[in-house]
Amino acid sequence: MPCVRSTTGVPRLITVRVGVLTGGGDCPGLNAVIRALVRKAERVYGDEIVGFLDAWDGVLNRRTVALNVESMRGTLPRGGTVLGTRRGSPFDYDDGVEQVRSTLADMGLDGLVVIGGNGSLSVAHLLHSEHDIPVLGVPKTIDNDIVGTDLTFGFNTAVQIATDAIDRLHTTAESHDRVLVVEVMGRHSGWIATHAGIAGGATVVLIPERPFDIDAVCQRLVRRHSRGRYASIVVVAEGAVPAEGTLDISDPEIDRYGHARLGGVGHLVAAEIGRRTGFETRPVLLGHVQRGGTPTAFDRVLSTRFGVSAIDAVHDGAWGQMVALSGADIVTVPLATAAGQSRPVDMDLFHGVAEIFFA
Ligand code: F6P
Repeated sequence: MPCVRSTTGVPRLITVRVGVLTGGGDCPGLNAVIRALVRKAERVYGDEIVGFLDAWDGVLNRRTVALNVESMRGTLPRGGTVLGTRRGSPFDYDDGVEQVRSTLADMGLDGLVVIGGNGSLSVAHLLHSEHDIPVLGVPKTIDNDIVGTDLTFGFNTAVQIATDAIDRLHTTAESHDRVLVVEVMGRHSGWIATHAGIAGGATVVLIPERPFDIDAVCQRLVRRHSRGRYASIVVVAEGAVPAEGTLDISDPEIDRYGHARLGGVGHLVAAEIGRRTGFETRPVLLGHVQRGGTPTAFDRVLSTRFGVSAIDAVHDGAWGQMVALSGADIVTVPLATAAGQSRPVDMDLFHGVAEIFFA
């Protein structure tokens, strides 16, 4: 077993062979993580890295690609993932766990690095804690909703994309004296909405953590208009929900992995604002554009640090852990910290900063 913590705390330079996969929704910065992990693995440790294609599907069906410094060249600024990604998990199959175990054993792999969001990290945790499979996590998601890390890569890029869109929407809203309702992603957390709302100068931000009252939203807009401001931007997180008894909203569709398929609340909010205030109102659904394309410089740096730390953690024997950002430092925390959890937005930021600018 190559991964034994050295007495000096410095990872040991013993060569390993590890697999890597990307799971769940894609996210800007995935390639930067893989590139950094591969670079340090190959150049510093002399390791061999095997990429599994299309997440767990590649592990179950042994579809792989050899990863090396040469094959990762040019991928730093590229969005998406060179490995492909899917939702789903080995637990969807009766013999899924045993297939993972035998893939690792037959391919001579010392362990598996799982770059994923809440779902993939929960799977990684179960594989390690219940089935003793050597797995290490790297937290990714534009939603920034993983417990145990101060930030996930992809979030900064998504916020920048949403902010750029809001900047553009201001001028068209002002030209037409309109209310523009911008729906952003984030699942059941309001991180993207809150940050993009602050950065983009939104009039109102609606987040899942605080059910909204559509009457109160309309009153704010009317007050703003009465002060001579006829254009407004309302940012709505896709997971925002009305306060009980205030507005009917249909239950979201559930996909085949049991996840709610969110999206559409912006249309409802825009229609209600238009109907109740008489202001011309339009919905804008940013959707997957928030996940596509090149990562920001900030996300490239964070991803690179995660990738380098992930292979160090492998050499340190930190199976069952994930790399994480804690303040300015990259640390490792147990996968159990993140498994089955979702990190809500910082309500001090919402109340103490975002709300100060509401109409
Ligand atoms: O978790 C990332 C995310 O983009 C969420 O913000 C969004 O709700 C979801 O994925 C969309 O998933 P899909 O790409 O499967 O439609």
